Amino acid sequence: MTRELKIAVIPGDGIGNEVVPEGLRVLDHLAATSDGDLSFSFETFPWGCDYYLRTGRMMDEDGLDRLQPYDAIYFGAVGWPGVPDHVSLWGLRLAISQGFDQYACVRPVRLLPGIEGPLRVATAETINWVVVRENSEGEYAGVGGRSFAGRGLGYEVAVQSAMFTEKGCERIIRYAFEFARLRGRRKVTSVTKSNAQQYAMTLWDDIFDRVRADYPDVETEEWLVDAMAARFVLRPETLEVVVGSNLFGDILSDLGSALAGSMGIAASANIDPERRHPSMFEPVHGSAPDIAGLGIANPIAAIWTVVLMLEHLGLDAEAARVMRAIESVTAARVFTPDLGGTATTREVGEAILAAM
Ligand code: NAI
Ligand code: MG
Repeated sequence: MTRELKIAVIPGDGIGNEVVPEGLRVLDHLAATSDGDLSFSFETFPWGCDYYLRTGRMMDEDGLDRLQPYDAIYFGAVGWPGVPDHVSLWGLRLAISQGFDQYACVRPVRLLPGIEGPLRVATAETINWVVVRENSEGEYAGVGGRSFAGRGLGYEVAVQSAMFTEKGCERIIRYAFEFARLRGRRKVTSVTKSNAQQYAMTLWDDIFDRVRADYPDVETEEWLVDAMAARFVLRPETLEVVVGSNLFGDILSDLGSALAGSMGIAASANIDPERRHPSMFEPVHGSAPDIAGLGIANPIAAIWTVVLMLEHLGLDAEAARVMRAIESVTAARVFTPDLGGTATTREVGEAILAAM
């Protein structure tokens, strides 16, 4: 009995086109060595900034309908000079993650063997946590507008409102606790700014309080986001699962990536926990125009992202196999230039395949 999985592939822009093929090779290799247990079929969608310049759309109008039947979406990065970033982001990445209500964004932060982190206290033991980011509302709800440009230069006004719903807070907080249980983590830390943002963030706090009562086996903490930024740097070993709003999760996860050595290794999953729609898996990094086309983008973020996809698809043994291969390649210090090495994208990808 072969398990056949259909993956929609959206390489997008810039280095998305260089790192995503490395992830696909890993999936092909898993299928080829599975004794017929597993097969992946890929359909690639050409959406991105080039597509926008040709057609006026970042993706086809019926894009979500076409993605719906897939088991997962594998996404590279979107954004390129010549198309405003808010147009490309809202037209593709956010159109999919919001359209499919992928409300849980999961981002592991781990210092891999052999990689030197920027922190004195950083080791593979102390840097190892997961950021669970609310991914559907909050500060990125898109509520607001720009007005009064007609009053003349200097008088325009912009309102950008954060929108927190009780349902939205509850489902992401509950997801963080479920995730902690499933992945053997003992503690969930809630990050807010309740002292300054007295409405939305106290709603979040009340719901956190309510939900944690259902998980007496999981330890909890509540921290303000500014203090948490400092704690990421000063006491990283105390973190396990960190749950926060859309904006806070976004910023803290980039800080985490930097502490783990490079944006080039940071993986991310946009999950629809109810599985009504396919979930989307993408590296944290963008299209990196500064190195695009040079063949030196680090493929580890994209390949670690495949690990998250495999876990979501229930393929835990395969996920562990790919993760071990990544670890052995970093331990052997086969590094692209972002980690101080001279290897190319292909060489790191090949090394990981060989380790598998
Ligand atoms: P970026 O993540 O593309 O690059 C930031 C820095 O990290 C650059 O110096 C880049 O060379 C380096 N870097 C990123 N990925 C790397 C990799 N795999 N290997 C080695 N080095 C790597 O962020 P930036 O420059 O702010 O944005 C560029 C474009 O990407 C913009 O259009 C932006 O809107 C878009 N973007 C898209 C995202 C997405 O699709 N989810 C996320 C972040 C940015
Ligand atoms: Mg970000």
